[in-house]
Amino acid sequence: MYTEKVMDHFRNPRNVGEIPDADGVGTVGNPVCGDMMTIFIKVKENRIVDIKFKTFGCGAAVATSSMITELAKEKPLDEAMKITRNDVADSLGGLPPIKMHCSNLAADALHEAIKDFEKKMRGNKK
Ligand code: FES
Repeated sequence: MYTEKVMDHFRNPRNVGEIPDADGVGTVGNPVCGDMMTIFIKVKENRIVDIKFKTFGCGAAVATSSMITELAKEKPLDEAMKITRNDVADSLGGLPPIKMHCSNLAADALHEAIKDFEKKMRGNKK
């Protein structure tokens, strides 16, 4: 049911943890299954220089969080903002249709973290 890549990212998730002095934090939850995901980013010159995640969820949620941190690392913010749930699923070699909603969480949490960073930047300029 799951590809080797999904199993690999589930068993050995990359970039797990927290960034205590993160520049942006995004938390999203899925009200249906109750799973939660938080993504922390460190930004330098509009580029994501570090990214970590904490996920309380199913195997697919863990694998998609791990994959999205790899996709977003070192990317400029505008490119990271364009990463979709399909990009995450494709990079994992596909997800079972019933598990596609799990990859929503990863894309949404990343986008929320970027928005949080942008909001803080605007706040600092005032
Ligand atoms: Fe909820 Fe996967 S079942 S995120």
